[in-house]
Amino acid sequence: MTPTEAVRSRRSIRKFTDQPVDRDMLTRVLEKAQRAPSGGNTQPWHGIILTGEPMQALFARIAQEFPKGREAHKPEYHIYPPELDGAYEDRRFGVGEDLYGALGISREEKGKRLMWFAENFRAFGAPVLMLVHTPKYMGPPQWSDIGMWLQTIALLLREEGLDCCFQEAWAVYSPQIREVVDIPDDHIFFCGMAIGYRDAEAPVNNFDVKRAPLDESVRWEGWN
Ligand SMILES: Cc1cc2nc3c(=O)[nH]c(=O)nc-3n(C[C@H](O)[C@H](O)[C@H](O)COP(=O)(O)O)c2cc1C
Repeated sequence: MTPTEAVRSRRSIRKFTDQPVDRDMLTRVLEKAQRAPSGGNTQPWHGIILTGEPMQALFARIAQEFPKGREAHKPEYHIYPPELDGAYEDRRFGVGEDLYGALGISREEKGKRLMWFAENFRAFGAPVLMLVHTPKYMGPPQWSDIGMWLQTIALLLREEGLDCCFQEAWAVYSPQIREVVDIPDDHIFFCGMAIGYRDAEAPVNNFDVKRAPLDESVRWEGWN
């Protein structure tokens, strides 16, 4: 698989098969991903890789919280900046609408949308969930390093025929996660990463996820 093929075939998978993930395979991916770059080679990423009983215990704990609605949400950081607007907000809204469109859930069907959101907290059926954390004092540059690590993992997973979904949604339940998973007190919980095999037929894994034209993202200077 070329890097281009890995990039092209990676997408956020939101319906996994129940095929288990081989630990050696995952170890291989994570060992290679340690080569991800980071400012000053700080390698500020930390992951807890859950499967089986501990993962089910986490799902069960969050299932108790979910019915409480937003009142139970206690993220340790702003998942989106409160100021998010313009093209950024349009894109965020747009991908949500396209996703619900693929699921055949209309805007009026709030209950169904909520039930779908709950799928996040079962890792979309994936057999593995990695929880990502870093020391609280780390700043934006180190968070960016963590992103490089996560994308490196995502691309290497493709090489092994595996898929993933990054999941910030877990961050809304940070204190509740800490009740059942040992995350150091001086670390901030960032996100989850569901890992497994894609259900290739599921419409939710096949809708078109749009991207901005290149000129909205880069400006060329000094070129003819
Ligand atoms: C850090 C991060 C967190 C994300 N959190 C979630 C999440 O909680 N739930 C979800 O369904 N998708 C989540 N996504 C997936 C994004 O919606 C997705 O990457 C984006 O829409 C582009 O689509 P693609 O990954 O299929 O190319 C997350 C992505 C990133 C990078």
